[in-house]
Amino acid sequence: MKLGIFGVGYVGLVTAVCFADKGHDVYIHDTAKEKIATLQSGGLPIFEEGLEPLLQQNESKLHYTHNATAVIHDCDVIFICVGTPQDTEGNADLSQVESVVEIIGKESRRDKVIIIKSTVPPGSTENMEKLAQKQNKFGNRFTLVHNPEFLRQGKAVYDFMNPSKIVIGTSDSEAQKLLCSLYKKWNAPILVTDTKSAELLKYAANSFLAMKISYINMFSQLSDKLGTNIDDVAYGMGLDPRIGSDFLNTGIGFGGSCFPKDLKALENVAAGLNIELPFISQTTTINEKQGDLFYKKIKNFCKSLQNRKVTLLGLSFKPFTEDTRSAPSLLLSQKLVQEGAIVTAYDPLVRDFPVEGVHIVSSLEAAIKDSEMVCLVTEWPEFKKLLHGDVLKLMNEPVIFDGRNMFTLEEINRASWYTPLHYESIGRPTVTSYTDNNQAANLLVKEKD
Ligand code: UDX
Repeated sequence: MKLGIFGVGYVGLVTAVCFADKGHDVYIHDTAKEKIATLQSGGLPIFEEGLEPLLQQNESKLHYTHNATAVIHDCDVIFICVGTPQDTEGNADLSQVESVVEIIGKESRRDKVIIIKSTVPPGSTENMEKLAQKQNKFGNRFTLVHNPEFLRQGKAVYDFMNPSKIVIGTSDSEAQKLLCSLYKKWNAPILVTDTKSAELLKYAANSFLAMKISYINMFSQLSDKLGTNIDDVAYGMGLDPRIGSDFLNTGIGFGGSCFPKDLKALENVAAGLNIELPFISQTTTINEKQGDLFYKKIKNFCKSLQNRKVTLLGLSFKPFTEDTRSAPSLLLSQKLVQEGAIVTAYDPLVRDFPVEGVHIVSSLEAAIKDSEMVCLVTEWPEFKKLLHGDVLKLMNEPVIFDGRNMFTLEEINRASWYTPLHYESIGRPTVTSYTDNNQAANLLVKEKD
């Protein structure tokens, strides 16, 4: 089948490449000309694990074009995968979806099934169907379907190929048949529902995951005061299959292009219907507080950040992506720079970072050399080597603020036998070789084992 894809972000490009791998011819368009040009010249506009080899294997079935009309004329089915960013009021901005629907409506010369993969508020797919119909001068019938994605960035190819479920939102039996045949090579349960329920399902799933993170983060705040170990608490909770261990990692807070904006959009949808969603609003509040509390820990330790050499390890909102949208590193680095700290950062993938004053270097060693304090913001596996004796010694003062609880307290205690250090994390006791928190000069040199 000839499939058209509008939008080559993480969702669109992964969808395109995976469908090509299942034997379809895929025609890809994006209004960002440079993205299409990059693809045409054999490059990739985004990093996604496993995407490059799969794309290369299926090169002959992937067609990149600047010509939207050609995609509309040639393809039997069109997927809309464009962005739905947050607008100034916190609603999902549907303008990119609307402009794709409008052009399909205007240019189409035959009936068409249009599949919205972008996350859109309940009711949007129905509205888009009306919009497409309104544009059409040729008496065509447009069927709009919602087929939400549940892809984690960094694992999107794996998730697309191994989904826990496929959700098809349509009340049209022909469209249902077509979608079921498109997905027949996938081994996953297919849930068919009306478009609005499919739209709501996506928001409910994302906000539940975000709520789970904020739930454990809320307990990490209590754990900090009680002097308990939140990781042991989360681990024990997760052993109960009714709770499950996923999304119970405490930390500096969630970021990314989905959770923060989806929660806000959902709250606004509910407010428009005079419904309050306290779980959702508290999830956001706890998340924001989590970043503030991490910063306060740093501030409490240093008192003044003026001219302190601070290293950020990790800038992306999570490992295995270069995406910094709503990443906790943004607010943290802004505050550090504002307070006069000299901020150096290293991230294995991030090269462009929007906060002025953050000096990006190209290796962990270069980032921590002569540093007075390391803040671990993203749990890239590479950062585990921070505790290697030779690496830690590169720091001027081995002071670590771990925003992702990357290290166990045992690992830290062991490292502190060899290199006196100060280590603070989230919801766990501080490990310190200092007599007080004021001066690194008060370092207690422990006897080596
Ligand atoms: C999410 C959903 O998982 C996915 O199903 C949906 O389609 C898109 O949104 P993504 O934004 O790629 O995917 O990232 P995810 O892995 O869910 O992590 C989101 C944020 O939560 C990250 O900042 C991550 O660091 C944080 N997180 C995740 C935690 O703080 N603790 C956890 O236990 C899990």
